Amino acid sequence: MTTYKLAIAGGGSTYTPGIVRSLMDRLEDLPLSEIRFYDIDGERQSKVVVAAKAVIAEYTDQIKVIDTTDPETAFEDADFVFAQMRVGKYAMRELDEKIPLSHNVVGQETCGPGGLAYGLRTIFPMVELIDYVEKYAKDSCWIVNYSNPASIVAEGVRKLRPNAKVVNICDMPVATMRNMAGILGVGREDLNVDYFGLNHFGWFTKVEVDGVDRLPELREHVSKYGLLTEDISKIDYRHADSSWIKTFKNIKPIMDMFPDYLPNPYLQYYLLPDYIVENSNKEHTRANEVMEGREKSLFETVRKFEETGVLEDAFHVGVHGIFIVDVTVSIAKNLANRYLVMVENNGTIPNLPADAMIEVPALITNKGPVAEYVGEIPYFHKAMIEQQLASEKILVEAITEGSYEKALQAFTLNKTIPSAFVAKKVLDDLIEANKEYWPTLEKKYKEGVLA
Ligand code: NAD
Ligand code: G6P
Ligand code: MN
Repeated sequence: MTTYKLAIAGGGSTYTPGIVRSLMDRLEDLPLSEIRFYDIDGERQSKVVVAAKAVIAEYTDQIKVIDTTDPETAFEDADFVFAQMRVGKYAMRELDEKIPLSHNVVGQETCGPGGLAYGLRTIFPMVELIDYVEKYAKDSCWIVNYSNPASIVAEGVRKLRPNAKVVNICDMPVATMRNMAGILGVGREDLNVDYFGLNHFGWFTKVEVDGVDRLPELREHVSKYGLLTEDISKIDYRHADSSWIKTFKNIKPIMDMFPDYLPNPYLQYYLLPDYIVENSNKEHTRANEVMEGREKSLFETVRKFEETGVLEDAFHVGVHGIFIVDVTVSIAKNLANRYLVMVENNGTIPNLPADAMIEVPALITNKGPVAEYVGEIPYFHKAMIEQQLASEKILVEAITEGSYEKALQAFTLNKTIPSAFVAKKVLDDLIEANKEYWPTLEKKYKEGVLA
């Protein structure tokens, strides 16, 4: 029997125990001989590994567990690497959210200026991870990447390491499908969907069950309840937090105004930025909720487990863990299963640039994702996508060229930001906050021209 060595980069993530449980549930499809946890914060990771080991022990004693901060130990001879790094951790997420809000701009970890800031922190560490994997892992090794902001990371990787074996994925499409399935009273796997866009910036254009178009029914439901079942207990525990409920409710006004397609929830930050800012608490953002909630309870669970031997949180499996394992099984067994992932456009959507990293249905094979032809998209969606794409592409140029002007262009082009004045203020505050993380962004013109 083939067994695999899997490494998890960002092993100290709050998602690690849930992903490990998903892996354990699927050992028949993806037999593992080793799981290596790799993080640059060894202390944080070691605590999380206590929980991960407790989960593994419920299933088997045949998997060797390695907890390391050394890349060679982590990636040597690996078959798969899961990446889920949060560069700068929650402390920086909090600033990504609060600095834009202090200028009345959307404060979100992956959308708007917060996402751009997170992107500038993550591209080089992601490239470093790819280089480690290429140096130490098997030639056949695939990196399945959740590290955000996935769209910008995907563009950075396309540009800087074009031949790397990386599949960039996001759980929002599957989470949206979970909600749709709950509303329609069917299983998620019964849905046949079409979708196009960028990551955190796309639309479902078809939702069928057994060949029957169910979008009309969803439209009607969403106009009453948003993208939520009347009984919200069917929602994944993470997405059942009050802020996620609010996020799914906000699908209603968007679909009321633009009923053709069902939007990815993240589009609200671009379509309703004023409303989002008005309804944000500038002193207490999602980062605070996560630190006080998911992160705190994980470390409490670990502390209690070490004291009592009882694991209080079972780390139930949600779409997040299921999806990354599904994609990996499809690669490992060359199943060519169809999932929504990020790929280079190359004509999949002929009226978007060939070198755009788009999110569309693709068949996942051992040679990577093979996109399904989408065809031309309508002007409205194309225009929105192109504006966001330009913002993200120019941001990547800003980091590779070390250019302040390009960073300012990227911020100015972002639809969440109302003017170049505001873009400059937000960018300058973020530069100050990210001193330890961002490369220097040089000004081509003398201070004063730009001040
Ligand atoms: P977290 O802060 O709990 O964990 C991230 C870990 O990454 C930390 O332990 C940190 O030390 C580590 N890390 C930071 N820089 C690193 C580096 N250069 N090399 C190795 N490890 C590094 O964060 P979280 O909330 O659990 O999220 C983890 C990641 O998963 C984030 O990037 C988040 O945005 C992403 N995520 C993505 C999706 C998606 O849909 N794509 C869904 C959920 C989470
Ligand atoms: C969704 C998105 C991820 C994002 C996560 C944040 O699942 O697809 O890209 O990282 O939400 O969730 P959180 O609970 O940390 O706010
Ligand atoms: Mn995502």
